[in-house]
Amino acid sequence: MNLSGKRIVLGISGGIAAYKCAELVRRLKERQCEVKVVMTDSAKHFITPLTMQAVSGEPVSDSLLDPNAEAAMGHIEFAKWADLILVAPATSNVIAKMAAGIADDLITTLLLATPAKVAIAPAMNQQMYAHPATQRNLATLARDGIEIWGPGQGEQACGDIGKGRMLEPNDLVERCMTALVPEEQPLKGKVVTITAGPTREALDPVRYISNHSSGKMGYGLAEAAVKMGATVHLISGPVKLSAPSGVCVSHVNSAVEMCDEALRLAIVSDIFIGCAAVADYRAADVAAQKIKKQGDEMTLTLVKNPDIIAQVASLSQNRPYTVGFAAETQDVEQYAKGKLKNKKLDMICANDVSQEGLGFNSDNNALTLFWQDNQISLPASSKRELALTVIKAIASKLD
Ligand code: PMT
Repeated sequence: MNLSGKRIVLGISGGIAAYKCAELVRRLKERQCEVKVVMTDSAKHFITPLTMQAVSGEPVSDSLLDPNAEAAMGHIEFAKWADLILVAPATSNVIAKMAAGIADDLITTLLLATPAKVAIAPAMNQQMYAHPATQRNLATLARDGIEIWGPGQGEQACGDIGKGRMLEPNDLVERCMTALVPEEQPLKGKVVTITAGPTREALDPVRYISNHSSGKMGYGLAEAAVKMGATVHLISGPVKLSAPSGVCVSHVNSAVEMCDEALRLAIVSDIFIGCAAVADYRAADVAAQKIKKQGDEMTLTLVKNPDIIAQVASLSQNRPYTVGFAAETQDVEQYAKGKLKNKKLDMICANDVSQEGLGFNSDNNALTLFWQDNQISLPASSKRELALTVIKAIASKLD
């Protein structure tokens, strides 16, 4: 899919993430998109107009009052030229100005004058992002129909850890494609329920048994299913991800909680995908008080958790098309096919989680999809891309 014939105005405001804009423009140009760059004065402290001109192949605009620029393309004409104006990074300052309708520089003027879609990629310190004023302004922008892409979570340039990182250039390119190139929606009218993330099985008030699932694969599937037109319910174990837009999320902790929610939603779903890494066992008794150290060894008695996906696949009425995942470290095909059969699934997505950089808690994965009579290998790529392929493969199997 490319962006041929699409026109994006990239508005760069003054944050450290501005340095990623050169990469963003290169990725957009690779997709044959026409890009014009507008910068605020403060953005020029973080990346030079010359760099942005070199990567975009177009002069960079930065002033509302430049007679030469106005003679070449007046700002109203400029605002009409765009199919999308993306402000990235969008600082708390530019967000506040947008929310108030202030137009005191070229970017904010274009934003008021454009009939095009507008999206912002917020980027700022986590405390500034969490501030009620910023949250209030973002809510105003969302109400005005402006798309808000991110921010992401993680380590920040200032050393803080939290929410406020600008989404990566590749993510922003994908969002531009979704915004500008309408996808086919083979799941329109369908309901999809997806489990994601780990479960936590309590031992006492402060300890639990769990695993390294980050939820990225399951959240990617939820996002892809929304893109394909579905109504999506996500049943999520404890993860650090934000809900993809348009997805209804139920937060759970334990396998038993996940099972209750899954059985409630499965009967109203057309498709059920079990991507969660569910603990197979839980403590037979959860101690009411913190367990005290007692000698050199201790024995925990565990009991089996319900097999959620097997219960869904065995529903005698309103059974959804049921897709499992198999996380294996050896004999992947054999174990995956065994789970497909024993759990009575329609399809299973197997991943070899012994491979460095794939599987649990990484951005990438590789999958083999198995049906009773067929299989497809999907080589290593981002979980978001894989998720889209998996959802399309499922959609192709529905009547
Ligand atoms: O979350 P990420 O960091 O992005 O990592 C993604 C992933 C590796 C967790 C994901 O791709 C994956 O493989 N998920 C399934 C992990 C797993 O628990 O596999 P399993 O082979 O143990 O279970 C097989 C299937 O049964 C799965 O669909 C699982 O959701 C389901 N199951 C397992 C046990 C149980 N009690 N109930 C279940 O429903």
